Amino acid sequence: MTLDELREHAAELDRNDPLTQFRDRFCIPRHTDGTEVAYLCGNSLGLAPKAARATVGQELVAWENLGVEGHFKHERPWVSFHELFATHLAQIVGAKPYEVVAMNTLTVNLHLMLTSFYRPNSRRFKVLVGHTAFPSDRYAIASQIALRGYSPDEAIVTAKPLAASRVLRTEDVVELIEQHAGELALVLMDGVNYYTGELIDIAAITESAHRHGIVAGFDLAHAAGNVPLALHDWNADFAVWCHYKYLNGGPGCVAGCFVHEHHGLAREPLPRMAGWWGHDKHSRFGMGPEFEPIPGAEGWQLSNPPLFSLAALLPALELFAESGMDRLRAKSEALTGFLEHALRELFPEWVEIITPSEPARRGCQLSVRVKRDAKSAFASLVANGVICDWREPDVIRLAPVPLYNQFADVVRVAEVLSCAK
Ligand SMILES: Cc1ncc(COP(=O)(O)O)c(C=O)c1O
Repeated sequence: MTLDELREHAAELDRNDPLTQFRDRFCIPRHTDGTEVAYLCGNSLGLAPKAARATVGQELVAWENLGVEGHFKHERPWVSFHELFATHLAQIVGAKPYEVVAMNTLTVNLHLMLTSFYRPNSRRFKVLVGHTAFPSDRYAIASQIALRGYSPDEAIVTAKPLAASRVLRTEDVVELIEQHAGELALVLMDGVNYYTGELIDIAAITESAHRHGIVAGFDLAHAAGNVPLALHDWNADFAVWCHYKYLNGGPGCVAGCFVHEHHGLAREPLPRMAGWWGHDKHSRFGMGPEFEPIPGAEGWQLSNPPLFSLAALLPALELFAESGMDRLRAKSEALTGFLEHALRELFPEWVEIITPSEPARRGCQLSVRVKRDAKSAFASLVANGVICDWREPDVIRLAPVPLYNQFADVVRVAEVLSCAK
């Protein structure tokens, strides 16, 4: 395939893209030469929806005009503002609305979940994590293990790829669960791994963990808004995710949390770190001394949420409701497949794609190992308006996002790499 053929094909695919109007709903940053960048970094920080400025502005105006009365007298009262997210989030992660909540940030939510779900005893105190788990998750787990009086070195079981591959396959994780079944208290896996881009089979891992009485929790930072999820049906015990990547809620945005109804609606509430925003809504302002959790995920809230961050997230999630996960996934598979095809055809000796090839085993991100001059290839991409990111020692992550990327962005990658090789 030549670059010209790639250009032609991309132009045709962009012309026929049923989601093309969504790109106009985002602010696309500009390169120094004035052109729109090829933004392939939505796996790190999603772009700003144009509507975010207005919704944040409305809340600022409400604050200016109403002061404290905004909590109750505003047309979208702040006291219940977070409830506006339940339906959207339930659709995005495949849950019942009362199983999800927008609160805190990802690592905070992970600690809250570990406090409730990691219940070690002298026989079962181990936690299974992936070898490329995000460092913050590992720190959280190690600190929780130490807080319960166990040794992180002894208690953390790290799942490594068994085959001669860089990717941790679902089968490898299931095999390790079988091996350590009697000692594991918890399995914590990424839905989509941040380094390799691999999508694991959440249902299979949960089923295998549950068969041995082990809790299954998931970090969906790279999965939420990227791949279709069905957390309720898959029986996941809990999950946490952020909203600033594929969900475009803005830097440091309020995060998400899922607690399966088996736990959230249990007759005997799970032990937890409690705060007043998780207290029964009807008696919260009675200011009584006893904590009575709201049934469902909302019962894990601690504080009244940062309103401006929630306000920016609202139009972002509305775009997902409008486009629908099925249509997004269809375009995502086509776009990522197009990128993969271009890289394999044009640079067969130079790059190795470590993300699995099967669409069912990945989201939109491709992790590309560059076999020589990797750093300068990355520098050329950035210098020529391709925004992507670098992971040591030699991996470039490229994430074409179906909501705002176009097939022409893939062409830009190919053009730059053709000059750099
Ligand atoms: C997979 C994963 N987990 C956890 C985190 C930490 O997120 P936060 O800083 O929002 O707690 C990140 C951040 O990028 C991440 O990619």
